[in-house]
Amino acid sequence: MRLFCAHRPVSSAARRLDQLLANLGYCSRREARAWVEAGHVMVRGAVADDPGLKALPADVRIDGEPPDHPAGLLLALHKPAGLVCSHDAREGPLVYGLLPPRWGRRNPAVTSIGRLDKDTSGLLLLTDQSALVHRLTSPKHKVPKLYRATLDRDLAPGLVERFAAGTLVLDGERAPCAPAGLKIVSAREAELTLTEGKYHQVRRMFAACGATVLTLHRTQFGSLELGDLAPGQWRELPLDFFG
Ligand code: URA
Repeated sequence: MRLFCAHRPVSSAARRLDQLLANLGYCSRREARAWVEAGHVMVRGAVADDPGLKALPADVRIDGEPPDHPAGLLLALHKPAGLVCSHDAREGPLVYGLLPPRWGRRNPAVTSIGRLDKDTSGLLLLTDQSALVHRLTSPKHKVPKLYRATLDRDLAPGLVERFAAGTLVLDGERAPCAPAGLKIVSAREAELTLTEGKYHQVRRMFAACGATVLTLHRTQFGSLELGDLAPGQWRELPLDFFG
């Protein structure tokens, strides 16, 4: 059986009211009839009574307010260490818990663009635009991500050249890592720019050279810098921020 679910793009085109309410997380499609019949929804200034009525989001008011981001969401979040990039609460406290609960009920779902480990902090992008997830995570597009790492020992000589060569093979992998830019900040601190996102890549690259990463923080994703966004805080970005 083929299941259709999350890959319909969110859009600002005309939609049935029950679909609009459910897609934007106000209620389930089943509950939408009661919502409409209770008078929560207006279309072009008149109270709607038919959940099957098609309307442009711009013409709709829900409890007097415009619909919540009908065209989609793109967010920059400062992920604190200790939260997991997962929708499964059994894995630990979720990054999605930092967002308004209604966004957790949207369809398509809001997901992270790539992941950061539980112990990693810094810039995490979130969106409901699956094409954007693909574009920003595909190694083909070589989107640079900048990390700052502190290590348990002094950086070995020759590491800059070793990471830049594009020949480092991680444990359990066949293909080498793409060339990566390493900038030494101090004896045990460095900035690393990656254009791909293998599992635990930064930690494994340093481990391949005998060092353990003690702290890891992402400061930049493509052209976007984390800046002074406080841990746990997020801000919205225009959907076309990355072009
Ligand atoms: N590399 C890692 O090892 N961990 C992250 O969270 C991101 C990149």
